[in-house]
Amino acid sequence: MRTDSPFTLWLTGLSGAGKTTLGQAVSLALNDSGRRCVVLDGDVLRRGLNRDLGFCEQGRSENIRRTAEVARLMNDAGVIVVAALISPLRADRAHASTIVGAQRFLEVHVSTPLEVCEAADVKGLYRRARQGDLPLFTGVSAPYEVPEAPWLSIDPLRMGLEPTVRELLALIVSTAP
Ligand code: ADX
Repeated sequence: MRTDSPFTLWLTGLSGAGKTTLGQAVSLALNDSGRRCVVLDGDVLRRGLNRDLGFCEQGRSENIRRTAEVARLMNDAGVIVVAALISPLRADRAHASTIVGAQRFLEVHVSTPLEVCEAADVKGLYRRARQGDLPLFTGVSAPYEVPEAPWLSIDPLRMGLEPTVRELLALIVSTAP
């Protein structure tokens, strides 16, 4: 693996798909192997940098744009980024790719199906969304556009976290810029 070419691994998928868990595991493994890597997580960013943004289309677009700008700065500084955001719309993900630079933007669809995310409902948000307490909830009352040609599509809940991380790392070693 080259050590001089940072990239952004962009994890997109439904709430509860396992993006954060997967992103943290990949980041840990990369750091353990001597590569500097940080996780930009949607939930975390929305408590700080993006705390002024909501979940309407404009709010999500701006959330994704700002995150991509931060990822670009970090990549420019030599740091690998794992971004974990629902990023539900193709146009916003395409914009993120343009900001980061298509050559170093690796789109990964964390493809855990809606039924599985909803059955687990770790944060209780799907229940609230179904009850009408949480408007514009992705997969329930707001769209999720499946990536048409992701770099990789992966279902960590079905495959298991360890094998998923191993597959991702192997692919990174063989194909990342
Ligand atoms: S994104 O659509 O703008 O990319 P982001 O990944 O930052 O979303 O934040 C998603 C997280 O916000 C979810 O995992 C969930 O915890 C929380 N959340 C709160 N309201 C919503 C909503 N209406 N739709 C989706 N996620 C929501």
